[in-house]
Amino acid sequence: MEKMWSGRFSQDASSLLERFNASIMFDQKLYREDIEGSIAHAQMLKHQGILNPEELVAIESGMAQVLKEIESGEFEWRIGDEDLHMAIEKRLTALIGDAGKKLHTARSRNDQVALDFRRYVLRKNGEIVDLIKSLMSAIVDIARNHTQTLIPGMTHLQHAQPINFGFHLLAYAAMFKRDIERFESSAERNNISPIGCAALAGTPHNIDRAMTAKTLGFESISINCLDTVSDRDFALEILFNISTLMMHISRLSEEIILWSSYEFRFVELSDAYSTGSSIMPQKKNPDVPELLRGKTGRVFGNLVGLLTVMKGLPLAYNKDTQEDKEGVFDSVETAEISLEILREALKTMTVKKENMARACKLGHLSATDLADYLVEHCHVPFREAHHITGRAVARAEALGIDLSEIAYSELHAIDERIKEDVCRFLAIEHSMNARTSAGGTAEVRTLEQIIYFDHYLKDIK
Ligand code: ARG
Repeated sequence: MEKMWSGRFSQDASSLLERFNASIMFDQKLYREDIEGSIAHAQMLKHQGILNPEELVAIESGMAQVLKEIESGEFEWRIGDEDLHMAIEKRLTALIGDAGKKLHTARSRNDQVALDFRRYVLRKNGEIVDLIKSLMSAIVDIARNHTQTLIPGMTHLQHAQPINFGFHLLAYAAMFKRDIERFESSAERNNISPIGCAALAGTPHNIDRAMTAKTLGFESISINCLDTVSDRDFALEILFNISTLMMHISRLSEEIILWSSYEFRFVELSDAYSTGSSIMPQKKNPDVPELLRGKTGRVFGNLVGLLTVMKGLPLAYNKDTQEDKEGVFDSVETAEISLEILREALKTMTVKKENMARACKLGHLSATDLADYLVEHCHVPFREAHHITGRAVARAEALGIDLSEIAYSELHAIDERIKEDVCRFLAIEHSMNARTSAGGTAEVRTLEQIIYFDHYLKDIK
């Protein structure tokens, strides 16, 4: 097959080279961006008198036909065409003749691919933000029902202080909000048009880059063409942002896996989002959160992969850069399905309040409350209060009960400054509701956090 660039070549490309060099198998995903970019470019060329009106009409209707062929599956993607840019231009020219051959005036595949890929990433930034918002909204809805559901708050995976389950879930809402902000700020920073930079140095044709940028919805045009055709920061940013998002998803998944175990039994995933074992009939496995945790590894790999591709590249475009796409497509598609399935798995998950409450009676969760009581009501310095509480915990252990259930007489025997009202302070629910400082777990503070996230999410409700 004759190549578009074959003018200076006397031998055909080997089929091995064709297979090795081609990106058409994966970059065909960019067909919309490519066609829209070409039409905007052609409109600008016509405006500048570089194309005549008939040529523009031919290009526009030819491209409409190409688009139709691609979307109906008729379009033939041939490896010999190397990439989507050449495949589409070739088909256009076959359809409309000479006008098709003029389309590439004042443009190179270098700025063309920079345009297509950047627009894909910008679009995906927005779509991922919408998916995160809908996950957040599911999380906030569950939190709303569980502001009084007690669970052990942990540090070091050890029982620490009682919190409510809603408060626990809202920690993830806070993480996902930061994730959204990262996608949004990246989209804002990279809303810059590369088209018109041509191969690397600009073009002698009298083009209007601002016009093409405006047609395509960009905020502005890039400042330096040499940078523009080799810049892949925007792709690295989405890879990093997805990595951080998946890291958060993976942490929540890890908790769901733990909570689903017989050791915890805090939640049960619905049958629709659980799997069985081929040998052990009794099993119900949390494959969904496990895969979310597992896929996070591949997403991190895509980030490190592209960073490594970029680190040694001299200016400007190098073919190495063609390796930018598959990892980004993979991370984007992984993030999309992950956000959806996590949302559905959470919505259909059963929360086992009684098991959570039972767990709160293990590990003396209200020990800090006894120390706080001694400080506030008995004017004992905190260090000394800590020590007295330690003795109370040891006593409860010896009695085989939780500190929240210890008799007043036992505590009074340890320190006579302790008064009868102490028991009220040791109740688990009281302990949770005592933490009223800003951002704390007390139900009133949790309800404020719910209002905050409701307000943030109100556009999508
Ligand atoms: N398929 C190429 C890529 O994805 C398009 C740019 C090719 N440019 C070039 N000078 N060979 O990067």
